[in-house]
Amino acid sequence: MSEQRAIPQHVAIIMDGNGRWAKQHGKERYEGHIAGVESVRRVVRAAATHGVKYLTLYAFSTENWGRPVAEVEAIMELFCKSVVGEAPELVKQGVKVKIIGERSHFSAKVLEMIDQIECTTKAGDKLTLVLAFNYSSRREIVLAAQAIAERVASGALRIEEIDEATISQHLMTATMPDPDLIIRTSGECRLSNFLLWQASYAEFYFPEVLWPDFDEKEFDHALEVYSQRERRYGLVTEKN
Ligand code: FPP
Repeated sequence: MSEQRAIPQHVAIIMDGNGRWAKQHGKERYEGHIAGVESVRRVVRAAATHGVKYLTLYAFSTENWGRPVAEVEAIMELFCKSVVGEAPELVKQGVKVKIIGERSHFSAKVLEMIDQIECTTKAGDKLTLVLAFNYSSRREIVLAAQAIAERVASGALRIEEIDEATISQHLMTATMPDPDLIIRTSGECRLSNFLLWQASYAEFYFPEVLWPDFDEKEFDHALEVYSQRERRYGLVTEKN
């Protein structure tokens, strides 16, 4: 699809509202997450169609371990099932999957699924789908600081050489551009420990719709809103 409007290279989404959606429909919370996977499917397809190159989805935060055990297990199970089940379709669509987040805490089965999906889809060149799983932005920054300190201690890097690029290159998103557009569904307006460093110049969009109801039309609308924003990066333009 060739678009006239400005298309964000990287869209990042905080998929919020699965629990409320389940409640509204008289269902269990895990059923909200199942419905949420449908939205993931739709949005991946829509992003690829519109020419978005990176789509990052906040699937499980480090804080989510504090949820009831049954819900955490349901999300892990759903993640494994989706990753295996969707692999052929993702390959067909040219989608490369990358998982960011700390790999500690995961069961052997989840770790195997992560390796498998990253390996199976590694040739995808249309869209990179980044799943933030056991992800915490503050923790990511701490790990980057430790890695940089180690390089300084070993003599591989001088303190004066540390700049913004050094920090970016030590984050889990090192090989990706920063997000241009961050969407959080369900009307909540906060970042919740998601891409704090990378979000510096992102545009934000907070639709009221709950994640399981976020469809192609909603995604298209988000792109429309983005295309009407004027990105100034702290500079002055003709309009202001
Ligand atoms: C937020 O809604 C959603 C989550 C914490 C989990 C999202 C997980 C999935 C959609 C399934 C696995 C993902 C992939 C990529 C296969 P919430 O539960 O916080 O909703 P609430 O705020 O209404 O309670």
